[in-house]
Amino acid sequence: MKVLVIGSGAREHAIVWKLSQSPKVSEIFSAPGNGGISQIAKCVNIKVEDTDVLLSFALKESIDLTIVGPEVPLVAGIVDKFTEKGLKIFGPCKKSAMLEGSKKYAKEFMMKHGIPTAKYAVYNSFNEAINGLDEFSFPLVIKADGLAAGKGVVICNNKEEAYEAVRGIIEDRKFGEAGKEIIIEEFLEGIEASLMCLVDGNKIIPLESAKDHKRLLDNDEGPNTGGMGCISPNKILDEKLMAEIKVEILEKVLNGLQNEKLDFKGILFIGLMVTVEGAKVLEFNVRFGDPETEVILPRLESDIVNIFLKTIDGTISQEDLKWSPKSCVCTVLASGGYPEAYEKGKVISGLDKVDSDVLIFHAGTKRVDNIITDGGRVLAVTTLADSIDEGRKKIYENINKIYFDGMQYRKDIGKKLN
Ligand code: AMP
Ligand code: GLY
Repeated sequence: MKVLVIGSGAREHAIVWKLSQSPKVSEIFSAPGNGGISQIAKCVNIKVEDTDVLLSFALKESIDLTIVGPEVPLVAGIVDKFTEKGLKIFGPCKKSAMLEGSKKYAKEFMMKHGIPTAKYAVYNSFNEAINGLDEFSFPLVIKADGLAAGKGVVICNNKEEAYEAVRGIIEDRKFGEAGKEIIIEEFLEGIEASLMCLVDGNKIIPLESAKDHKRLLDNDEGPNTGGMGCISPNKILDEKLMAEIKVEILEKVLNGLQNEKLDFKGILFIGLMVTVEGAKVLEFNVRFGDPETEVILPRLESDIVNIFLKTIDGTISQEDLKWSPKSCVCTVLASGGYPEAYEKGKVISGLDKVDSDVLIFHAGTKRVDNIITDGGRVLAVTTLADSIDEGRKKIYENINKIYFDGMQYRKDIGKKLN
């Protein structure tokens, strides 16, 4: 089979790596890919938002299966376009992708189908939003409705911060049209967990659990980032809680998708807050998580092509997923200055020195003569181990062998934080 993976992060590198192990796969393309992906797939220079160009490429190359990494092409309707032309593609249709593309839509979906989530209200003018603040107590959460590259959520501790957030989103349009409407939301206290699920139209099947580390600095301090590390499994999602989540969230989500006639065939990523009242949904993403995918796929023992095809055909079952009992730990090496401005083009050294059982998934890298940095998050250093603690030791021993100018990373991934 000829397979195309759309995207350029460590998530896509992990997907390409897993696909490359399948005996069914003869050739892998990635658009646009990165320095690491280029070592195992053919990278084609097409941007993820150029859905028409991607379609022409897939038709010209007779691609048998396309996997979409990021949300932007999904929300733009790439799945509908490919499906209309008879191409197999893994991901939700445009309408279903609204679960990530509009936080208002996601909230309405949750309310309508009885899915536990934070109390909220939606506003489309500065004055209304400011008046609406009185309905909530501090801290509260302010969110831009649309896609904002993970930056559209602000936790506000007082009125001043809330005014600034509302002004930034709705008046200054910091996130463009994504900020036409804002959501004000009750702040939920608890422990976060990420749960990715396969949805095939008939079933919703959770993958193994993971815990993201979104803050830049150790002890969960500093600004939010795209994710600085991850572990799997996430111990908080034990059997008892998973049984509750199945009834209170997963079954209701599936029921909602079916009732709304949403053709969802792909990954539904559920961001959870485990509160004293049980698990509540913070957000939906309609794609694989990053860095969650980097710790989940190394634990998957089954052929991933089979899983993609069966999900698209609506015939996936729990038996198709075999998991390693091992733990997986991943620490992200980022450019100096990230998540604010950072420099690119720094030579990365030491990659040839890391142990053979350490996986290096590339994110912002480019291959010129050497591998150089080309983004904020640069490498996801990952390993399977008998325990999180053992994995953690191995990761940090190996990170010591890697260097690029300005390199920064968290030293506490996999340490007990909660
Ligand atoms: P989201 O993109 O909606 O997941 O928000 C990004 C991050 O903001 C989440 O991972 C949480 O850490 C935090 N967050 C979002 N909504 C809430 C909430 N209602 N209460 C507490 N924290 C939240
Ligand atoms: N790790 C969260 C996300 O992929 O959005």
